[in-house]
Amino acid sequence: MLTTPLLALTLALIPSLVTAAIFPEGTTVKMLDAKGFKKVMKANETSMIAFVAPWCGHCQKMAPEYSKAAKALHPLLPTYAVDCDAEKNKRLCAEQGVQGFPTVKLFRRGDQMPPISYNDGERKAGAFFYWASQRVPRFVKKLYHVEELKPWIEESATSPKPRALLVTKEKDMPLLWKVLANKYSGDIDFVIHRNRKGKGSRALGYKSAEKIPLVLIYPPGETRAIRYDGPNKLEPLSKYFDTIVDGTVDWSIPEEPTVEEDMSGEDASTFEAETEADEIVIDSPATPTASEPEPEPTEEGVEPEPEVVGESLTAEPGESAPEQTVVEIVTEEPEEEEAESPEIADDAETEQVVLDTPGEPRPVDEL
Ligand SMILES: *[C@@H]1O[C@H](CO)[C@@H](O)[C@H](O)[C@H]1NC(C)=O
Repeated sequence: MLTTPLLALTLALIPSLVTAAIFPEGTTVKMLDAKGFKKVMKANETSMIAFVAPWCGHCQKMAPEYSKAAKALHPLLPTYAVDCDAEKNKRLCAEQGVQGFPTVKLFRRGDQMPPISYNDGERKAGAFFYWASQRVPRFVKKLYHVEELKPWIEESATSPKPRALLVTKEKDMPLLWKVLANKYSGDIDFVIHRNRKGKGSRALGYKSAEKIPLVLIYPPGETRAIRYDGPNKLEPLSKYFDTIVDGTVDWSIPEEPTVEEDMSGEDASTFEAETEADEIVIDSPATPTASEPEPEPTEEGVEPEPEVVGESLTAEPGESAPEQTVVEIVTEEPEEEEAESPEIADDAETEQVVLDTPGEPRPVDEL
């Protein structure tokens, strides 16, 4: 009976393979070490990180759900895991205040904002998906009324920063736009306007663009726009915004707004009907989306941190204990005591959606 000791020996020799194995094959969850973690912290992006140990049963149970959420969030929100059992990662896990496995944290803008811990709720794909996607900081100014467009274009032309305006028929802010604004805020100002019956696009000179998202870039000091005409996906948009940031963008203004994708065969009522249908789908609790409900118009359009205001330190350590494998991590003192994560009491609607829909979140990489 050599097999058992042999197997034990083999497993002891390949701890990293054991770790990787808690996530399903082909997962978009990437394993991080201290160096990788540093890199993630430097990027101004929202990312979700699970601190796990390969032997922990709750981690194994969570892994497929976490992986499913990661797939749905990919590529907008990168998702990672750290093996806290690996010697080289113990210090990182201690610094991050990890006291039990699994510990899932959301870093909303690299290390520029304190992380939020996933303290309550089931460790299900839909719950992770909502929790993460709804907590991307909102560096997007909303222009609610069509009358606001022209004054905004003129006033903001005095800013030294280029501006990116999304005109969309969608009622809810696309997660992609929020993600881009989070990534490029500081270099580019992000704005959104809901195109009701094509009024917004018409006011800007795009006569037949009711249904098509318009991504308009206003160079500094300019009241005329350049229309971005690539695919409305994270990668091509990021590449384009990178050229704005590094200054290699072509700032030449087209003579007149181009009107593409002529929709003249359809009348306005069709658009409206379809828009309404879309809204019903989006609002249905049975269909998880990454969008957020549109708040009532306010004076101030920019809402950088609407979700995590104040800290409700509701989660008592004892509460989550049964669901978590509590371990003692013996390492040197954490360099910096993490402020107790601002945890949000999910609003009732979200809670309900999460509980009612264990199903798959829809893809989010679109405007
Ligand atoms: C992240 O944001 C900060 C502050 O907004 C900025 O100073 C820094 O250059 C940004 N980093 C990257 C990689 O864009």
